[in-house]
Amino acid sequence: MSKKTIIVTGGAGFIGSNFVYYMLNKYPEYRIVCVDCLTYAGNLHTLNKALENPNFRFSKTNICDKEGITKLFKEENPDIVVNFAAESHVDRSITGPEIFVKTNISGTQNLMDVCRELNIPRYHQVSTDEVYGDLPLDRPDLFFTETTPLHASSPYSASKAGADMLVMAYYRTYKFPATISRCSNNYGPYHFPEKLIPLMIINALNDKPLPVYGDGKNVRDWLYVEDHCRAIDLIIHNSKIGEIYNVGGHNEMSNIDIVKLICKKLDKPESLIEFVEDRKGHDRRYAIDPTKIHNELGWLPETKFKDGIEKTIEWYLDNKTWWEEILSGEYQK
Ligand code: NAD
Ligand code: DAU
Repeated sequence: MSKKTIIVTGGAGFIGSNFVYYMLNKYPEYRIVCVDCLTYAGNLHTLNKALENPNFRFSKTNICDKEGITKLFKEENPDIVVNFAAESHVDRSITGPEIFVKTNISGTQNLMDVCRELNIPRYHQVSTDEVYGDLPLDRPDLFFTETTPLHASSPYSASKAGADMLVMAYYRTYKFPATISRCSNNYGPYHFPEKLIPLMIINALNDKPLPVYGDGKNVRDWLYVEDHCRAIDLIIHNSKIGEIYNVGGHNEMSNIDIVKLICKKLDKPESLIEFVEDRKGHDRRYAIDPTKIHNELGWLPETKFKDGIEKTIEWYLDNKTWWEEILSGEYQK
């Protein structure tokens, strides 16, 4: 494999940081440059080990900052840009949609414009299965495929769908060399404790209430984060431009079953569970058909949920300082 420079935006967040470590480990000769403006979801401590690697650089830059991104991209002359940077939490998009439109749509446009101006050969947009909306609970035969129409429900998913439309429009209009992946719910190390799985692990460890929205029967298709990283690695190295790939684990579970499982694994009583007011516009079920990425790129999920959730719980038990500093606000200093 020839030496490449890869720019990873949003690499101080959950999936982006896992991708940084995956790439540094798999391609020791590559240069990996992380671009992140460190919002509340970004944590530089997450990249402590990467910062010791001479092939890694961190740049505190906002993806909406055209001058800053142009300067950095000129310096680094990347072979590939992978865009993870986003506002990613649905609940926050319901209370404050503006920043979602700014970061997720305008930020994507800015990155693509700089890539076009500098003739950067490859751009990958990390998107989500939420762009397809949701599926009914009583139709287990239905799955999202790459041709399912976009039908976003929340300001978050609408902003991601808007970004996807722009990426495909740039591909068609300018032959912009882009690909898109749309993945289901990830879980694993460095997952910010506002999301279901880390929130429930940490609250249960602290004997605090476990807030389940609505009836808890909403279904998500959970994928271990490393499997997502491997899918993106295959796409950026092996796929044609202009392609969209759905990535998912065929691992559908209801929220209440996940929360009960976490209680069981941590030996905590289910009486900690509290059913609370439902999320507005709450998507009922997500389920991915990953046939295309399997047939074209040979991708299959490798980590079974029963192993992935154990590894994840172990990680939160072994890395208390990481999440305690988030709870106390210390991580932003
Ligand atoms: P995250 O919220 O944990 O991390 C986002 C990162 O982006 C943070 O480090 C943040 O500081 C950075 N960021 C935000 N705005 C920025 C800006 N304007 N400029 C530079 N950096 C900025 O998110 P995540 O869960 O790791 O998700 C990463 C990507 O994957 C997102 O695009 C998300 O839509 C997508 N995705 C997430 C999941 C999931 O289950 N978490 C599933 C499918 C797709
Ligand atoms: O499907 C991919 C998406 O998965 C990504 O695009 C998003 O960035 C990511 O945040 C995630 O979105 P969800 O809304 O599915 O994840 P979240 O962890 O917020 O919620 C998972 C489910 O759990 C959802 O049905 C809402 C429910 N929930 C969540 C929280 C935080 C609760 O019942 N209680 C909670 O406290």
